Amino acid sequence: MEKKNRISLNIICAAIIMLFVSASACTQQPSDDDAQLEAKVDSVMSLMTMEEKIGQMTLYTSGFDQTGPTVREGYKEDIRAGRVGAIFNAYGAEFNRSLQEMAVEETRLGIPLIFGYDVVHGHKTIFPIPLGETASWDMDLMQQTARVAAVEASAQGLHWTFAPMIDISRDARWGRIAESAGEDTYLTSKVSRAKVRGFQGTDLGANNTLVSTAKHFVAYGAAKAGRDYHTVDMSDRTLREVYLPPFKAAVEEGVGSFMTAFNEIGGVPATASEYLFTDILRGEWDFDGFVVSDYTAVNELIPHGVAADSAEAGALALKAGVDMDMQGAIYHKHLPDLLEEGVVSEDQINEAVRRILRYKFKLGLFEDPYRYSDTEREDELVLNEEHLDLAEETAQESIVLLKNNDNVLPLDENIGSLALIGPLADNQRELIGSWSAAGDYTDAVTLRKGIENVVSSGTEINYAKGADINSDDRSGFSEAVQVANRSDVVVMALGEAANMSGEAASRSEIDLPGVQQDLIREVLKTGKTVILVLMNGRPLDLTWEDENVPAILETWFAGTQAGPAIADILFGDDNPSGKLPVTFPRSVGQVPIHYDMKNTGRPMSENKYTSKYLDIPNSPLYPFGYGLSYTSFEYSDVNLDKTELTASDSLAVSVDVTNTGDVEGEEVVQLYIRDMTASVTRPVKELKDFKKIALAPGETSEVTFYLSHEDLEFYDIDMNWTVEPGEFKVFVGTNSRDVNDASFEYVTQ
Ligand code: NOJ
Repeated sequence: MEKKNRISLNIICAAIIMLFVSASACTQQPSDDDAQLEAKVDSVMSLMTMEEKIGQMTLYTSGFDQTGPTVREGYKEDIRAGRVGAIFNAYGAEFNRSLQEMAVEETRLGIPLIFGYDVVHGHKTIFPIPLGETASWDMDLMQQTARVAAVEASAQGLHWTFAPMIDISRDARWGRIAESAGEDTYLTSKVSRAKVRGFQGTDLGANNTLVSTAKHFVAYGAAKAGRDYHTVDMSDRTLREVYLPPFKAAVEEGVGSFMTAFNEIGGVPATASEYLFTDILRGEWDFDGFVVSDYTAVNELIPHGVAADSAEAGALALKAGVDMDMQGAIYHKHLPDLLEEGVVSEDQINEAVRRILRYKFKLGLFEDPYRYSDTEREDELVLNEEHLDLAEETAQESIVLLKNNDNVLPLDENIGSLALIGPLADNQRELIGSWSAAGDYTDAVTLRKGIENVVSSGTEINYAKGADINSDDRSGFSEAVQVANRSDVVVMALGEAANMSGEAASRSEIDLPGVQQDLIREVLKTGKTVILVLMNGRPLDLTWEDENVPAILETWFAGTQAGPAIADILFGDDNPSGKLPVTFPRSVGQVPIHYDMKNTGRPMSENKYTSKYLDIPNSPLYPFGYGLSYTSFEYSDVNLDKTELTASDSLAVSVDVTNTGDVEGEEVVQLYIRDMTASVTRPVKELKDFKKIALAPGETSEVTFYLSHEDLEFYDIDMNWTVEPGEFKVFVGTNSRDVNDASFEYVTQ
């Protein structure tokens, strides 16, 4: 077998030497030199049959059964025949090696497979769901978690992750909001960069990096009525200003691949959109990586109603610029005929194959196809202590304190007794959240365990499940009331099941499911202090809880180390500093709601004929950027170093922030702007910068931001990306609502 491998690779190397450059192209070290890379790619291309080329454009899934990963017999045949170039959902150093051996040693050319996977918020060590992790507003941390995910995944034979998901998400009904970085374009763009850097590292040829995928291109988060896969219709202005920038940021950061979105935009399914993939992605942004369809998204062009059959669907996708067909087998079945009929061209196919091969070279797979399948690395790295520590730290940084009346939190570690109630209090299964693909919930540490480890040995913990997450069964209520009655304080862990958010998990109601709210009502009747610990994948309607429960902690699905992280916060070993990356509405009727709304011609006032509801205010329950601390922060007035800004200089915006409480704390200082009058309407606030600072009690820090021309740009009435002169407001504060402001003029010289 090894002999055959050598022969295959030798053919490739010989071809390189023959056709292009010196023997250095075949050395063990992958080269960064573009010309050499192109020479290598072209040399392989020159050896390939059309069937082999189309094979490189084909991605199939492996499956799992109880004994571990599997691959369908038919796919094995396809691998051996060179009819498939990529496999996803297969992981494990040994298993992936066995598949790689089929490709490298049994195919004519020995072109290695690329193994993809949804390494979304960790691989084996699971970090908080992306929405939760973004609440940390800590980009270094988010880069590190991606790095660790890549280290673990690559040790298990993976080369390519289907992450980050950077769909702007403003609809709490949409289940995939859990996988996103929330509602804001600026913040999501920062996350996009951090994630790409973390996954890809500085050298894709290293054995611990993954090719990253920006997904889903684009506007998937704007699905009508929050229903997954639903249609999207939006102006080009909104598309370009709100939805595209995180993807552009990924391209600027060197992301290797893009995934198409399932939705249509204005009548054109994304997977068939030349505008998106050819004009914008490659034309305007110069993206040189490869585009993969989402799962059977090419086939779905038929039910979308833009292709009569799968051949037409394949032609549309290829023409749009989709290089690889995920699971649909359409390219595999139809490209040969489409080529013969002249519907698609050889150039189109060659270009797609080149884009894919380039990344196989960049990953170093031609030099050593097994470099990612190393069982020793796998044993040493997966779920190691360092990774678990990072998971705990990230979970802590992600937790948002929504309410803390009379400082009922933190609790005293020497408390006599504590009732721990709720379906999520002693639950492992839900903690790792949705899209924790390779994650094993049995590795997760429950809240109960976390609390047991923190409290003093004298503390009595009285546990009762009380209710299921989502059923009508009230039979556990009386036990819950009993344990509350015999305890000093009550912690209730309530929320959603992991599978109530994520893909195909939209909800029309966004309150606590089942009878959980009734359970709180019963427990509150005991008169005990109740602390609500929430675990959920979307903003919930917490209006009733906010009115009735003294303390609320939003912990999302906090991952493998959820229990210890939450316990540390509950007992004050750590001070919460998370800030909402998404608005929490007062009711589902406000959705979609986001802080950067437009003012309208009739902004809400006492007058009936203004833009508002009859039954609730326009304001959210908890605004974007909101989160409390066990200490308090005071902000000075906003200071500007000048009153006029021009294209050639920058404006310093400073505030003094003081920790006015008794404990050390971290604060995310946020800067927003508003363009007061322009040729088109502008949002009432736009996040433009933020800084996370740590302050000791009594300490003051001056925080300075610099605004320049670029921060003020937008698409004007003629769709030019520009700044218009006039008044701007700048706001600095602790969230998007509670801010101090100042004004300046942008002037043209
Ligand atoms: C469908 C999802 O939309 C996408 O995000 C994911 O990467 C693929 N399935 C592969 O699992």
